[in-house]
Amino acid sequence: MKMEQFKKEIDAGLSSTEKTLPSKYFYDKKGDALFVEIMHLDEYYLTRAELDIFKNQTQQIINALALKKGTYFELIELGAGDGLKTKELIKELTKQNYKFDYVPVDISQNALNKLEQTLTIETPKVSIKKKQGDYFEILESLKENNSPKIILFLGSNIGNLSDEIASTFISKLSDTLNPNDKLFLGVDLIKSKEIVLPAYNDSRGITKAFNLNLLERINNELGGNFDINNFKHQPEFTETEGICRSYLVSSKKQNVYIQALNKSFHFEKGEKILMEISRKYNSEIIDKIIKNSNFQIQENLKDNQNYFANYILNRV
Ligand code: AVJ
Repeated sequence: MKMEQFKKEIDAGLSSTEKTLPSKYFYDKKGDALFVEIMHLDEYYLTRAELDIFKNQTQQIINALALKKGTYFELIELGAGDGLKTKELIKELTKQNYKFDYVPVDISQNALNKLEQTLTIETPKVSIKKKQGDYFEILESLKENNSPKIILFLGSNIGNLSDEIASTFISKLSDTLNPNDKLFLGVDLIKSKEIVLPAYNDSRGITKAFNLNLLERINNELGGNFDINNFKHQPEFTETEGICRSYLVSSKKQNVYIQALNKSFHFEKGEKILMEISRKYNSEIIDKIIKNSNFQIQENLKDNQNYFANYILNRV
């Protein structure tokens, strides 16, 4: 079933006039490991900036979430990954005797299993209910119980969605929640390309490998014959628009055959595959995205360099 979806989306992306591949498929075992490496790169400021907020403003976060000590809640994290930043919050919440379960959601079962392993050691008292799926897939499951909910959507993970899809997702999310539930949204702020571009074009080539890994995944899982040496990694960003687009550019005229699709795809020299968008934000863009939802901005916290923002949104 999932395999069919994968095939369908790869076929659609490569068949379109402007070729594209869905970045949510970056995260197989190798992709997970590469992304963990990316988060520790000097150039990748996002993780450090958000971690700064989680470490230095933990109590402000807890206050803004307006939690009640005696009332059980679910702490649900969309795209939990390795949970680095969330662990700061979880540790403080347990220390202060809040009653909650942690519900990490991720597209990668491998990432979820690893996260559970580290949490059983680091915070043995917190019960973990993992859920595998993409953001839209798990929306329904949020209706399964009526407990108060805090949704964490960190790391500028929302930036992989176009504004239109992000806005649809945010309003669907707000529809599944109850009044006073919270969305805690972490977004990378618009800044100069001298800072943004290196984050997606690191000197060690980890981000390049991260992008090429999806071509390798297609080779391995769908019997493709991509020669990754024939593709160049190229991120583009303009501050006026605020969207970083990562491309793989075909360095020659070539055909790629994918067995599972029984189909060849032609690439001109210089033809691009759009691999990922990483949207950067300001308050106008945030306002636009939440406009059609039942969320209202309650607070926003920034790191010491003003690189990153955490918005606390209240479901009204
Ligand atoms: C996990 C989506 C936030 O877009 O910055 C990192 C993924 N891609 N380097 C981002 C990513 C290339 C990352 N997000």
